[in-house]
Amino acid sequence: MGRVLIATAMFSEVVERLQRAGHEVTVCDDTLPTETLAAADALICPLSLPVRAELLGIAPRLRIVANLGVGVDNIDLQAASNRGILVSNTPDVLTEATADLGWALLLAVARRIVETDAELRTRGFPGWVFLPPHLGVDVHGKILGVVGFGRIGQAVARRGQGFGMHLYYASRSRKPDAERALGARFVTLDELLQKSDFVVLSTPLTPETRHLIGARELQRMKKDAILVNISRGPVVDETALVAELQEGTIRGAGLDVFEHEPRVHPGLAGLKNVVLTPHTGSATAATRRRMADLACDAVLAVFDGERPRNLVTVPASKAG
Ligand code: NAP
Ligand code: GLV
Repeated sequence: MGRVLIATAMFSEVVERLQRAGHEVTVCDDTLPTETLAAADALICPLSLPVRAELLGIAPRLRIVANLGVGVDNIDLQAASNRGILVSNTPDVLTEATADLGWALLLAVARRIVETDAELRTRGFPGWVFLPPHLGVDVHGKILGVVGFGRIGQAVARRGQGFGMHLYYASRSRKPDAERALGARFVTLDELLQKSDFVVLSTPLTPETRHLIGARELQRMKKDAILVNISRGPVVDETALVAELQEGTIRGAGLDVFEHEPRVHPGLAGLKNVVLTPHTGSATAATRRRMADLACDAVLAVFDGERPRNLVTVPASKAG
């Protein structure tokens, strides 16, 4: 029997699956009691929970941290590894939902959907107007630049194909197969920023990607360009973004992630050319259920003495 601490509200079916396998489950949707952490053999945690050395220090029995998310920047991988604690994540199952949300943001900003919806609700439908004050921009046939051409980045690009877009990407390593399949062009970040009409960020948060997009990069972009961030908030210097949006350096932004979540830069809320979602990239019922199942699989594998799928290891540059 193992003790599983689930640090967020959870599907009852997933809790029951763990219980049926003979394990004791505690669900804590708020603060984590020290004594519960101290007794836990497995932790299933939301990506909003910082899992640092201090937390691991009060959970000496932990054998696995199963993160409910693909990004693991909330977890100190080195500290976990030092203690022999496995870390798993939830890749693949959320790729398409996250790409969909990226596209929802892109289209919403391009076609000013949130802004016009709000006006219609408050002022009513003014009648069909040939030259309304809120003309949008075309999406079809334009240049889509994807930064971070992994699972989600390529899924975003695939959708761009359907819109007849020209695809550029910048990434840590070149992806010849994806280039061939999608007709995408590998370019430097600078070239991508200068040429793209839409820039979608889909990198992980790492020391190299923190503030990858700041004032200098925003100033490289086209005046009519739209930035979409579905990666992690700190990949963009949010203060610089607010300043450049206020200046009209770029046309607008669609943001699912924020630099200091759950805090959102107050300057963003006042901007009409911005669409904001509360980190809901993977938030569909089916996707969240698949993520929960993967985390549960990982915990059960550890208790059964097997190696879980989706183990995350300390990046080679940091291992030691
Ligand atoms: P992935 O398959 O690992 O793709 C990430 C890509 O970024 C890889 O191609 C990687 O290059 C590239 N990359 C890494 N460092 C880079 C750098 N310094 N400059 C340029 N490119 C770099 O991961 P994924 O499944 O697509 O997920 C990507 C990220 O999206 C996650 O880490 C998470 O932070 C975020 N995410 C957000 C949501 C949301 O709700 N908004 C949902 C899911 C994921 P290599 O191929 O060379 O490694
Ligand atoms: C969501 O942000 C994830 O990393 O899965």
